[in-house]
Order: sequence, then structure tokens, then C-alpha cells
Amino acid sequence: MDAISVIRTKRDRGGLSDEQIDWVIDAYTRGEVADEQMSALAMAILLNGMDRREIARWTAAMIASGERMDFSSLSRPTADKHSTGGVGDKITLPLAPLVAACGAAVPQLSGRGLGHTGGTLDKLESIPGWRALLSNEEMLSVLDGVGAVICAAGDGLAPADKKLYALRDVTGTVEAIPLIASSIMSKKIAEGTGSLVLDVKVGSGAFMKTVEDARELASTMVGLGTDHGVRTVALLTDMSTPLGLTAGNALEVRESVEVLAGGGPADVVELTLALAREMLDAAGLKDADPAKALADGSAMDVWRRMVAAQGGDPDAALPTSREQHVVTAPSSGVLTRLDAYAVGVAAWRLGAGRARKEDPVQAAAGVELHAKPGDPVTAGQPLLTLHTDTPDRFAYALEAVAGSYDVAPAGTDFSASPVVLE
Ligand code: URA
Repeated sequence: MDAISVIRTKRDRGGLSDEQIDWVIDAYTRGEVADEQMSALAMAILLNGMDRREIARWTAAMIASGERMDFSSLSRPTADKHSTGGVGDKITLPLAPLVAACGAAVPQLSGRGLGHTGGTLDKLESIPGWRALLSNEEMLSVLDGVGAVICAAGDGLAPADKKLYALRDVTGTVEAIPLIASSIMSKKIAEGTGSLVLDVKVGSGAFMKTVEDARELASTMVGLGTDHGVRTVALLTDMSTPLGLTAGNALEVRESVEVLAGGGPADVVELTLALAREMLDAAGLKDADPAKALADGSAMDVWRRMVAAQGGDPDAALPTSREQHVVTAPSSGVLTRLDAYAVGVAAWRLGAGRARKEDPVQAAAGVELHAKPGDPVTAGQPLLTLHTDTPDRFAYALEAVAGSYDVAPAGTDFSASPVVLE
């Protein structure tokens, strides 16, 4: 077998055989297939697609490239959630402790920010002392003792995906349904969760811009999970506007703590509860009441123990930005659009995200929203506050948000998109 014949098969719109897939994933993981060959193959897959058999085999080969975790020693059922990525998507932070407070074990292996979308680990690292890197033994011990753990995936889990994902990020080959589905599901299946809820984002701030594409991604991933014995369900949720009122690391932790304290923006609370119900259902805990666990402080209690178990101080002050710049409403009326992608790019340029994977992020950088689509606004009132420690970044962020919002005259008939689409 050789890489060139595999690339040619897909370039010429053929189906890759099981043997070709097993060989190319294994040889790439071992370094025998070069990055430039794998990027040519990824581009051929992006352009020519894969059928369900190929996607299933590709996923199985990525799982087989590394170790599989085993949570069968836990007394509670395991439930995990994965979001396909968005702007202001801090849901994992309140959700993991909430679902644990309701009786499930939540092993939440999370990632760092990619492009304009934020990363859960970057957000949590704004808590002084908090550690993302745990050994498998530490992870199991936090999961057993607290009920929820949010940490980085170890190097041993789906190493083929680790290499391929970094390559796709710099070769314009992220947005391919077979590659996204196999990337996400190989990690989740190798992680060993018993049930999984997928939050498939749709809209300008998501990888999937249309409901049709999001449906195809969701059904591909649900099929892969089910075939591997993981109870998998998917929700399609709106990502045309940012979730909540913040995009950025410490800003989003602060908002998540507000939700755990019984407050927070309505859309964040609604999506957290909707996903919690799906996770508890999938884990066989149908009688649990997540709204009660949020209201009575038990979810907050798990959050505090989870943060402390990973070295963080849940009472420490979170970093605040050295510089702020306010963007005001151009006219009075009703806000009818605030574009998620533009806000995500602005937060990224302010320092909340990274341009290269080894770049540091600024804990306090990001964007604060003062209104959401559907809200009344008055000319000159603050619409956005931009936060950064490096004020030379304001100009680039302002460029990103220029033209990203519309204000219609008061009385215009307008209804904001629902949070959960289907
Ligand atoms: N998240 C992943 O883990 N992989 C992708 O390909 C896209 C989003």
C-alpha cells in the first residue's frame, strides 16, 4: 500500500477500501505518511465526500490508533455532551456540575479555542490555579469523588485525530462533514462514555451554516455513536448570535457562575437545562430535576468541588482586562441582528483566541454584549464592550464588528430565533 494510490482513489471520486483506510490512518499516526500527503487526502475527502461505510471505518481506525478509557468501575451512569463549537458557548461549565448534581458521572474531555470559537479549557484556565492536564488516574478519581471532571484529552486518546485535526486547521480542511463527524466521535467513543448528547450548532458562528448540513452532521454522528454502543442523541441549536452576554475566557466563567447561582442570561439557562434533560434521559435518570439542582445550590456545590479538585480556587477573583472600548448603538429601535461570527472574530482578535496553536491566550480578553436580538436599544447606549490587555488590538476587533448588527425602527415586527431549533 502507498499514500499516493490512496490519494488518487479519493481524488478520482472512488470509495476508499477498508484496507486503504486502516493503512493510511495507521501509517499517518506512525509518521510514515507525510503531512503533505495527508493534507492532500483530507482535501480530496472535503471535495469528494465519503459514504457511511467509509466514515464508519475511518472513525474505527482513528479509535484504534490509541487507547480506550473504561469507566465501568464507577457506580453512576456516565453522560457526556459535545458541542460542535460556537461563540459564547460556555454551556459545559454549568452543565457538567449540574448533571453530576443530578446523579450522573460526567467525564468531559474538552478542547482549546479554535479560530473564532472559544475553548472550554482556555476558559477554565482563567481560574487561578486550575489545571487542565490530568493523568487518567487523576481524572477517574475526580470523576468518582466529585461526579464531574472537565479536562484535556490525554495524548493516548485517538492520537490520529490529534495530528489530523492540527493539520486540517492549517490546510482549510476543517469544514468537511466526514472529517468533523469522525474527529468528534472517535474521541468520544474512545473516552468510553455510556451516553452522549451532541449540541450541533447552526448559523454564522458555527461550522455548519445551514440546518440541512447540521442535520447531516448530526445524523452521521448519531449513527457512529449508536453503532459503537453509545446512546447518542443530537439537538440542533442556534449559533447565529452569541450565546449569553459574553464571549471570552474569564468573562464566560463569570457568566457561568451566575447561571450556577440561579441567575444568568435566559438563553444560557434554557440551553443548559435542555441539554441536562437530554443527558439525564440518555443516562437513564429520567426522574432527575435539573431546574431544582440549579435553584437549590447543589449544582454550584459540585462546581466548587470540581474546580478545587483540579487545583483551582473557586473564590479567587477572576482576571479583568486592562483596557476597554465601548461600541454604541447607532440609532434607537430594536436590535434585529448581532452576528455570532463577527463577535467571535472580535474576541479572538482581542486576545481571547489564538492564531497558532502554541500562542498564549489572554484570560480577560473578549466581548461583552449589552443587548441581544429582540431587545430595545437607544441611540448612543453601549451595545458591546471590547476587553483586552493590549489596546493596539482594538482597531482589528472594531473592523470585525463593523456592520455586524442591525437596529430597526421601534415597533418593527421581529422575533428572535429560538435557542433549540430541533
Ligand atoms: N471539533 C472536533 O473535535 N473536530 C472537528 O473536526 C471539529 C470540531
